[in-house]
Amino acid sequence: MTIKQLGYLGFSVKDVPAWSQLLTSGLGLEEVESNNETALFRLDSRAWRIAVDYGQEDDVSYIGFEVANAQSLEQLTEKLINNGIEVKTGDIELAKQRGVLDIISLTDPYGLPIEIYYGATEAFNRPFVSPAGVSGFLTSEQGLGHIVRNVPDVQEAMSFYTEILGFKLSDIIEMSVGPVVIPIYFLHCNGRHHTLALASMPMPKRIQHFMFEVKSLDDVGHAYDRLDKEDAITLSLGKHSNDHMISFYAMTPSGIEVEYGWDGRPIDEAWSVVRHDTISAWGHKPLKQTLKV
Ligand SMILES: [Fe+2]
Repeated sequence: MTIKQLGYLGFSVKDVPAWSQLLTSGLGLEEVESNNETALFRLDSRAWRIAVDYGQEDDVSYIGFEVANAQSLEQLTEKLINNGIEVKTGDIELAKQRGVLDIISLTDPYGLPIEIYYGATEAFNRPFVSPAGVSGFLTSEQGLGHIVRNVPDVQEAMSFYTEILGFKLSDIIEMSVGPVVIPIYFLHCNGRHHTLALASMPMPKRIQHFMFEVKSLDDVGHAYDRLDKEDAITLSLGKHSNDHMISFYAMTPSGIEVEYGWDGRPIDEAWSVVRHDTISAWGHKPLKQTLKV
């Protein structure tokens, strides 16, 4: 009944065309549909993975977690309800809108809308074509990528995401920001080192960043050059101490950052939880004044 992957992300933003420009020309996703309300983007065989809606929040507006089948969804729904979580079921209109067979919706302890579904739409009949020439994105069983969720109380968020939703701890980074130490908890639900990280950071956004993983170092390098031209890079190229991802960070038009990386090391059965004192083994130097993870 466990969550298999991060399936999709929805954003509510003031400037959809600027987001579209970043996601397509900058990061190499394909825009597949757009109207006055929403623009949809894909990066693999799925019909869509990112939805950008016109809105005032300038933040992530919903997160889609995927389970394997109807039975898993039913069991997880029961577990959520037994733990006192309010769950909306039977929303046929939402399922249709997301292109999934069945869906439930709830919020995490700090009000972030979460959707859990099974039966996403595959579109192998329309091969993904990157408008920026990206060779490919690493998704499949590792899902869309990862997000770093900013919460007021990490322990409460940990209880929800691990005990109820079933995420498992990969490791902890105790990041020093001046005299303050901020612990960041990295959680997995498949082979990806972390699908979700939880931290309490002094920032107004629901997530600090989201991450896409591409299939080659050249994909990272070309994207770096494209975004450097736009003066959008916030953290230089570097290698993370825990997942060993070689990546850089760029700013979205909404003040959330996006990480773009390659060669993250997967979790295996021999994995032990460890702690780190630093975010990065090398690089990831700040190029703009923002809080970096
Ligand atoms: Fe990251």
